[in-house]
Amino acid sequence: MSATDLTDADYRSGRIKLHTPEDFEGMRAAGRLGAECLDMLTPYVVPGVVTDDLDRLAREFILDHGAIPACLGYRGYTKTVCISPNHIVCHGIPGERVLREGDIANIDVTVIVGGFHGDTSRMYGVGPVAPRAKRLVDVTYEAFERGLAAVKPGARTGDIGHAIQSYVESMRCSVVRDFCGHGLGRVFHDAPNILHFGHAGTGEVLRPGMFFTIEPMVNLGKHPVKLLADGWTAVTRDKSLSAQCEHSVGVTETGAEVFTISPTGQFKPPIVSA
Ligand code: MF3
Ligand code: CO
Ligand code: CO
Repeated sequence: MSATDLTDADYRSGRIKLHTPEDFEGMRAAGRLGAECLDMLTPYVVPGVVTDDLDRLAREFILDHGAIPACLGYRGYTKTVCISPNHIVCHGIPGERVLREGDIANIDVTVIVGGFHGDTSRMYGVGPVAPRAKRLVDVTYEAFERGLAAVKPGARTGDIGHAIQSYVESMRCSVVRDFCGHGLGRVFHDAPNILHFGHAGTGEVLRPGMFFTIEPMVNLGKHPVKLLADGWTAVTRDKSLSAQCEHSVGVTETGAEVFTISPTGQFKPPIVSA
């Protein structure tokens, strides 16, 4: 979501939903289907594939499982997934574009199962990719893991952002500022905002029952992005490569539960370096 979608009042109000054990069950079902949808796409992400065909496969998969594609019709978006190759940061719109060998691409899907949103994305390598592209993907996944490790009751949202930003910058990459993680559950984009940068000890206090996404966008170059004329596609201003991964998580009594883990263990792609 856009970092400006929630008002300061939402963010400070402290009115962040604390979910029940039944809601955790709901998120497990939604999260699993989201992950399975991305698993299903994996063998199709090959040189020559048309991004619209990947979108159709995802839509059919979700509908066949009795679920709802959350992005379809969301704020006028007309596709099921976002596909964001190379210097596209996020919200790339599937269409005529063909993926080529050496591309790296994020695919982001959100499904609604039993009223709950499962929102997840991962990177795919299209055939062998350049070493610097593989390195960017590795940094992005490690950044996610560092953010996730900061999630526990009593910690703050800023601890997540700080863990991500300090690691990413130590690797001479940059964290996108204009998009952030978000609360979710029965609502797609809710409080709190989860910024992927910031200061430890700041922001909302995490409590058991909070649900939100962590979805860092990491650039090989500088962090500024610009929006293309379609109103959705965000690209790096310096045209450097960008990567992202996303899970939906819940705060537990002891740490975090990740709802969008694939039963087959897929999430971090087996990217082959050229
Ligand atoms: N799944 C995206 C997220 O992580 C939201 C996409 S909204 C859409 O929040 F309309 F572009 F699909
Ligand atoms: Co999200
Ligand atoms: Co998403």
